[in-house]
Amino acid sequence: MEEKMRIAVVTSGGDAPGMNSCLKAIVDIASRKNIEIIAFKRGFNGLINDDWQKLEPKDVAFIFSVGGSLIYAGRCKEFQEESGKQKALATLKKHNIDSLIVLGGDGSMRGSEELSKYGINIYVIPVTIDNDVNCTDRSIGFDTAINNAINMIDNIKQTMLANERIVLVEVMGRYKGDIALYSALASESDIVVTAEQPFTKEQIKKAILKEINKGNPSPTVVISEKLFDVPSLAKEIEKEFGKECRGIVLGYMQRGGGPTVYDRLLSLRMASCAVHCAVKRMKTSAICIDKGEVFPMPISKAIKAPLRVHKKHLALFDELHK
Ligand code: F6P
Repeated sequence: MEEKMRIAVVTSGGDAPGMNSCLKAIVDIASRKNIEIIAFKRGFNGLINDDWQKLEPKDVAFIFSVGGSLIYAGRCKEFQEESGKQKALATLKKHNIDSLIVLGGDGSMRGSEELSKYGINIYVIPVTIDNDVNCTDRSIGFDTAINNAINMIDNIKQTMLANERIVLVEVMGRYKGDIALYSALASESDIVVTAEQPFTKEQIKKAILKEINKGNPSPTVVISEKLFDVPSLAKEIEKEFGKECRGIVLGYMQRGGGPTVYDRLLSLRMASCAVHCAVKRMKTSAICIDKGEVFPMPISKAIKAPLRVHKKHLALFDELHK
């Protein structure tokens, strides 16, 4: 009797809403094709430590609409070393794994590319709130994160306006400004500061002053993380301007919660594409979406994709605010 195909899955890096939806879709689609799914826990750590569980449809029955990751997410320093990769390979071999599906961001994609050189086919599904995987227009989790962010910014703006306060809101995104740009546009914030649209402290203050001089009683600034210490900058501005200013870090509130419809559908489409790639034993690929189409891109091309800057959105922000 021919042995069942076995696909391994890991959820790597920071978790993102839609990670569970995608995991469930992989298990459900694979099971209909009589393929076994072996999940390794905590990202690549599970491969190194041989920590795994078999997943069947009953195990993932209730996770589609839930944030986080059933099999735990995780970054893995040891995997960056040659010895770590060798341990991961030995585990894959021990379990007779045909291919590996990795749900993760930019770092997971690079790690997968290196591991694939040892002869294992890997399919990387971009799952990260940061939208920083350049080969794809969207990563799973981004849409939910920006919806979470604008809900919070809308609320913050209302109470800040009632008190005529200036407010600085820090959003996540690692080194990419997409969460800041999209949420600033959609919440009608006045100023956006990102790595792609950098501001010095003095420029931020000047832009706030311009808003105040225009008669705006409560200028709102959305700032990408890692650029400033936002609470201290708010204190500095309050002191200099003699006007109340609050610095708010949205943090993990953006990364939790059930995925939006967009992220659920993208999860289903990308999961289906990855399982099809595995069945066809295609070479290592990243699963991408561009112009509404989901497709696999060879990993060597995917990791060289140029930085995606959302120029039209930047131009729109300038048109509204400059
Ligand atoms: O990559 C996703 C992300 O949420 C980034 O936006 C953020 O910089 C980072 O993870 C936070 O990581 P950690 O969960 O390790 O604090």
